[in-house]
Amino acid sequence: MSFSQQFRSFSALSIVVGFAVASLSSLPAHAQVKPDTSKMPWMNKALSPDERADLVLGQMTLDEKIQMVHGTGWGVLRAGDPVPAKSNFAAGYMEGIERLGIPGIDLADSAVGARMAAYQSRYATLLPSTLGAASSWDPDSAFLYGSVIGRELRAWGSNMTIGGGVNITREPRNGRNFEYAGEDPILAGTMTGNLEKGVFSQHVMNDIKHYALNDQETGRTVVNALLDKKALRESDMLAFEVSIAIAEPSAVMCSYNLYEGDHACENDYLLNEVLKKDFKFKGWVVSDWGATHSTVKSALNGLDQEMPGDENYFNAPLKKAVEGGQVPTARLDDMVHRILRSMFAAGVVDDPPVRTVVDPFRGRDDAQHIAEESIVLLKNSDHILPLKTSASSSIAIIGSHADVGVLSGGGSAQVDAPGGNAADPKAGGSGWTEHIYFPSSPLKNIQAHAPHASVRYADGVDVAAAAQLAKSSTVAIVFVNQPMQEGMDAVTLSLPDNQDALVEAVAKANPNTIVVIENGGPVSMPWVEHVKGVVEMWYPGIGGAQALANILFGDVNPSGKLPVTFAKDESQLPHPVVPGLEGVPPGPNKEHTVGPFDVNYNSEGARVGYKWFESTNKQPLFPFGFGLSYTTYAYSGLTVDDAKRTVHFTVRNTGKQEGTEIAQVYVALPATAKENYKRLAAWQRVKLAPGESKEVTLPLHPLSLTVFNTDQNGWQLLPGEYNVTAGPSSSDTPLKATLHVQ
Ligand code: BGC
Repeated sequence: MSFSQQFRSFSALSIVVGFAVASLSSLPAHAQVKPDTSKMPWMNKALSPDERADLVLGQMTLDEKIQMVHGTGWGVLRAGDPVPAKSNFAAGYMEGIERLGIPGIDLADSAVGARMAAYQSRYATLLPSTLGAASSWDPDSAFLYGSVIGRELRAWGSNMTIGGGVNITREPRNGRNFEYAGEDPILAGTMTGNLEKGVFSQHVMNDIKHYALNDQETGRTVVNALLDKKALRESDMLAFEVSIAIAEPSAVMCSYNLYEGDHACENDYLLNEVLKKDFKFKGWVVSDWGATHSTVKSALNGLDQEMPGDENYFNAPLKKAVEGGQVPTARLDDMVHRILRSMFAAGVVDDPPVRTVVDPFRGRDDAQHIAEESIVLLKNSDHILPLKTSASSSIAIIGSHADVGVLSGGGSAQVDAPGGNAADPKAGGSGWTEHIYFPSSPLKNIQAHAPHASVRYADGVDVAAAAQLAKSSTVAIVFVNQPMQEGMDAVTLSLPDNQDALVEAVAKANPNTIVVIENGGPVSMPWVEHVKGVVEMWYPGIGGAQALANILFGDVNPSGKLPVTFAKDESQLPHPVVPGLEGVPPGPNKEHTVGPFDVNYNSEGARVGYKWFESTNKQPLFPFGFGLSYTTYAYSGLTVDDAKRTVHFTVRNTGKQEGTEIAQVYVALPATAKENYKRLAAWQRVKLAPGESKEVTLPLHPLSLTVFNTDQNGWQLLPGEYNVTAGPSSSDTPLKATLHVQ
C-alpha cells in the first residue's frame, strides 16, 4: 500500500468515525498532566533551554531516550491503527516522560490551517494557500497566518505544527506548490519564516519542511535530485536558510526524496553539514512520514526522530545499535537534547496548551484579511473592474461551484470543511484527493454587493447553457479551478475538465468576461486575450468569497503580486514534461507509479522561475512580481548607499484611489559572478493615498548579494559593480543605479 493509499483509506474512515470519537474529547490532554515539579531543577525558567534539556537528560534511562526519538505509529492516519489516548488525533505522537514532567508531542499537520478538526468535533480555520498568502509579500500577514494556526492548535491541546513548507517552485506543476511560498528563495524564506514565527508566538512548536529538494510529487519517495552544491545553496537551500534563521524552528522535517544518491533523512551533507553545522540549527530533524530508511546510517547522518514511528528503525533497532556501540550514546543524547531544548524554548513545558473553543469568526476575519492581500489582479482591460452595477445590471456567475463555495487544496494540508464539502455535502469531511469546497459563496457575496442587480448562476458543465447565460447578462464572471494535492503533480499547466473551452465560449458570448482562478500553482491561459479581466484568487480560504467580492467591487484595492512566474506553456519550462511523467497523457491529476529515477536540475541550476526566464530570454504569460491595482504608481529617484548597502527611492500614487504598492528591488551581480539574471534583493508594501508620495529606504538582503563559494564553504561578496533596479515587477524595473563593492 502506498502512503497515499493509506491516507485514502484514512479519509474514508474519517467521515465515519468523525463523530464516533467525539466522546473522547474529554480525555486528558497533556496539558492536564501536572507532575510534582518541586524536585525537578529543569523546571527553573531562569535556566536556558539547553541547560534545562541537559538536566532532564541526566535523569533519563536508555528506554526513555529511545521513546522520545520515534513516534507511536500511524494512528489516525491509517484505518484500524491504534490511536494513543493522549495524541489529540494529530498526524504523529511522541509519548512524553511523565515522571520527569515532560509532556508528549502532538505533531499536527497544519500547512494552511489545522488538519483533522472533524476527528473531535473541532473547528479549524482554512487560511488562503500559503502560495496565495505569499502574494501579499507581507511578513506581518505571514506572522498573523502562523498565529492563527498556533492559536487553534493550542485550543485543541496540540503543541506542535508540522507545517512550514518552503520548497521553492522549481516545478510549477508540483502538486504541493500551494503549500509553499513561491519561486524566490528570499521571498519564500521570509514569508515562511515569519509564518512559523507566528505559530511559535502561541507557545506551539514550529517546523520547516520538506528538507530538501522535494520539488515534485511524482515519484517523491524514489526520485534522486541532482544539483551541484553552489546552485543548491543559492536556490532551494537558500529558502531554508532564510526561513530557519527567522523562525528558529523547533524541528525541520526531512523529505522523502534522495539528493545525490542518499535519502534526505539519511543524508550527511543535507543534515549534518548544512543544516546543523552551516545553518546552526538547534532543533531536531523529524522524518517525513515513512521517510526513514535505516537505523545506524540515519542516526549518524543527522536524523533525530523517526515518524510516525512504526517502521522500526529508531525504536528497538536503535537501542541495539546504541548498546552495540554502532551509534554512540552521545549521538542519542544529542537527538534527545534537541527535542527537549525545543520544548523548553517554545514554552510547551512551562505553558502547555489548555483546551478551549476555537473562535471561528476571529479565524474567518483573519483569513479574509490575508486573502484580501493575496488576491492578484492580472488583467483589467477597459477598467472592467471594479464592477459598477445598477438595477439594470445582470451578472452571470459561472463554474467551479461558485454558488456554494471556494476550493481548497488536498492531501495532508486538507482542512476539514465545516458542514462537509459545500459542493457535495454527502461526501463529508476531509479527503485526500477529493475536491473540497468551503462554505464561502462567491455568488452570495457578489449578490450582497449588488443587491439590485440580477445575479444568476450556471455550473459550467453545460458549456452552451453557460454561454447562453453569459449572453443574456451585462457581465460574466467565470470561475475556473485547478485542484491540486500531495502525492501527484499536474501533467500539464492547462486547466482540467474542459475549462479552457468554457472560458472561450463565455468570452465569445459576452465581451465583458472576467475570469477568477482558484488554483494551486501557475496555469496557462490560452484565452487571456479574449477576456477583459483575470483575477488570481488561489485557494482563498474560509473568507475567500468575502475577500473576492470586496476586490471585485472596489471596497478593497487589489495589492497582491505574483510570487511565481506564469509560463505561457510547458515549452518555456526547464523541464517541458514533469520528470517521471514522460508519455503520460494530460488528464485529471493522479498518482503515477514510477521507478527510481534521477531528476537532473543542473542545467537550470539556481535559475528558478524568473531567473530562468530572464537568462533564456523568454517572455512569460505573467512575470514574477506582477499584479495590478485600481490606482497607478510612479517610481523615482533611486540612490544606493554603498557603505550601508541600502537603497532609497520614492513611490507616488498617481491615481484617484488609495492603494498599497509592493515596490521591488533587484540586483544583478558583477560579471565575475557569471550570472545572466537578476535577484530579488528587497521589497516593501507602500500604502499611499491618492497623490501621496513616500520615500522608501530598504536594506539589500545580504544573501541576495553573495555567491556561495564551495571551496570556502561560505558566502562570498564579490567586489565590483552591482546593477540595482527597482520597480513594480521583475519585468518592469524603471529605476536604475549602481552598488559599488570594494
Ligand atoms: C507529508 C507531510 C505530512 C505527513 C504527515 C506526509 O505524507 O509529506 O508533509 O506532514 O505526511 O501527515
